[in-house]
Amino acid sequence: MKFRLDRLLTKLVSTLSRKQAKDAIRGGRVRVDGVVVTDPERKTDPETETISLDGRELTYAKFRYFLLNKPAGVLSATRDKKKKTVLDLIPGIDHERYFPVGRLDLDTEGLLLITNDGALAHDLLSPKKHVEKEYYAVCRGIVTEEMLAPLTKGVDLGDFVTAPAAFRIAEKEGCDTGIFLTITEGKFHQVKRMIAHIGSEVLFLRRVRMGGLTIPEGLAPGEYTELSAETLTRLLYAK
Ligand code: URA
Repeated sequence: MKFRLDRLLTKLVSTLSRKQAKDAIRGGRVRVDGVVVTDPERKTDPETETISLDGRELTYAKFRYFLLNKPAGVLSATRDKKKKTVLDLIPGIDHERYFPVGRLDLDTEGLLLITNDGALAHDLLSPKKHVEKEYYAVCRGIVTEEMLAPLTKGVDLGDFVTAPAAFRIAEKEGCDTGIFLTITEGKFHQVKRMIAHIGSEVLFLRRVRMGGLTIPEGLAPGEYTELSAETLTRLLYAK
C-alpha cells in the first residue's frame, strides 16, 4: 500500500509530528531506496521501498492484519472476473500480497481475517492448533439437543470424521432454530454438512468468533478494522 512520504514517516517514527516529517523531507534528510526525496507528497510503498532518515534505515511493520465482517454475496478470494471479492472491500490493498485466511462460503457472513502474513495463516488453519471457530447458524425446522448431541463426539461425513464440536441452542427463529456451533477444523462446507448430517439444513450462517477474537461491536457487514500483530495473536490464542 502506498502512502504520502510525510505520513509514512510519522508512522515509522512515532515521535515525529507531521510538520517535523515535512521539514525533515524538505531538508534532504530522507532517502527512498538510497535517493534523497524532498517532496513530502511523494507516494511511497514501505513494503517494496527502503526509507531512511539521517542515514538510519527505518523498519516497517511488514505484516498487516485486517478483521473483516464479511457480507454475504462476496467471494473469499483475492480476485475474480465477475464477483466482488473480500479484498475489494479493503481499498488500496495489494491483491498480489494479501489473502483471506481460509474461506467462508459466498452466502456465509462474519469474521474473516485478511493478511499478508503467510506463517500466521498457516498456523491458524493447522488442525493441530485447534483454534476454535464459532458459528451462528439458523437451521431449518426444530433442532433439538438430542439431534445435535452426536456432533459433540464427532460424526462420519464420508470423506472424514469431524472432531468433537460444541453447541448451544440459541433461539427459535420462526419455525426454524438458531444455534451456536463451535468447531476446531475448517473443511469445505463443514458446518452445512454437519447440520445436514443431523437431518436439518443451514439457512443462514455467520462466523462469530475465532479463538478469542470476535466481531467488534458496531462493525457492520462489509466493514473492517485493522489489528496489530500483538492484539491479534493475544486474542486468537486466548484460552
Ligand atoms: N462451514 C460452512 O459450511 N460454510 C462456511 O462458510 C464456513 C463453515
